[in-house]
Amino acid sequence: MRVGIIKGNGIGPEITAATQRVLEATGLPFEWEDIPIAGVAIQAHDHPLPPETVQRLRAAKYNIKAPLIVNKLEGRITCVQPDGSELTYPSLNNAIRRELGLFVNPRPIRGFPGVSGRHESLDIVVMREVTEDVYIGHEHKIGDDIAAEAIKLTTRAAALKVAKYSFEYARRLGRKRVTCLHKANVLNYTDGLFLRCFQETSRDYPEIQSDDMMIDAACYTIVRDPKRFDVIVTANQYGDIFSDLAAGLAGSLGLAPGANIGDGVCVFEASHGAAPDIAGKGIANPLALVLSGAELLDETGNHKEATAVREAVRKVIEAKTSLTPDLGGSGTTDSLAAVVSEEVKKILA
Ligand code: NAI
Repeated sequence: MRVGIIKGNGIGPEITAATQRVLEATGLPFEWEDIPIAGVAIQAHDHPLPPETVQRLRAAKYNIKAPLIVNKLEGRITCVQPDGSELTYPSLNNAIRRELGLFVNPRPIRGFPGVSGRHESLDIVVMREVTEDVYIGHEHKIGDDIAAEAIKLTTRAAALKVAKYSFEYARRLGRKRVTCLHKANVLNYTDGLFLRCFQETSRDYPEIQSDDMMIDAACYTIVRDPKRFDVIVTANQYGDIFSDLAAGLAGSLGLAPGANIGDGVCVFEASHGAAPDIAGKGIANPLALVLSGAELLDETGNHKEATAVREAVRKVIEAKTSLTPDLGGSGTTDSLAAVVSEEVKKILA
């Protein structure tokens, strides 16, 4: 069980250690490989994402990544390609996804009794396309602080790929409905193409209900009627925002896991960021990264252990044992990881 580890910044190192502890409680023989990125990689290779790092992530195949701090207004990064050409990305996170060909970011979000209020029945997976849309970072400015524009890219190939992944996922996990979120009434060409590719793909999956909704109506609907959605597929920016909204409804960003899936390589990461406001205080909620670890266990075929980790998290939240302050408790990152680990061991014993 070789797993690449990116410890990240801010609360990253704290929640990574907690996640490793919980995953080790499954008894699986993990071999952790620290992979340098950002500041550590700059020290060693003079670049935040050198080709050596990209190769190591690819070779490890399964990676866990803690959040990275990306400075506002200055995150651009240029990576040299094997043929000597260069590609510039808008941020380090965007560069990791695109250098590795990670095309979809599934974000499962579930409500929990006791912490999710009227959203405890929430149980959705947001499939966010992550290679295109306005996040390709093709922006330019006109004059100095006069105007600026950004390109929104949608290709048939990427829209079909994410739609197919979403329906295959629904079929594999027995999910009943896939909903496409878009704004095709305004963005006729880009979101129109995304929606048409979704509709074409849906015809190959007659046993799964499919429908679509405007992104603004979907934001209203998920607040009013959380049971309305099941699997959701959407473009990069809508998925980024909608999944944070859903995490807030579930009770905390600290409960929202995620994965970035490519062909032959995956990076598992929480939906939240590096939370610099609470970094170093030992109070960060590690559960989103722990649950991302459960996604990794599923992806590697260790379903029994994956289920045990999810079940342990559910039990600990329901019992309100050692919960961190974001969940209304007074526990710490370490104490929460300790009780979840003990619960994992009990379940698997
Ligand atoms: P954030 O997600 O880091 O924090 C938003 C709020 O949620 C803060 O109040 C924070 O304390 C809280 N929060 C987040 N995760 C938590 C956890 N596990 N436990 C308890 N509370 C938690 O978003 P923000 O502040 O916009 O971004 C901070 C930095 O993180 C920025 O540099 C941003 O670029 C980066 N970021 C990195 C991401 C990644 O590496 N995948 C994703 C999103 C942001």
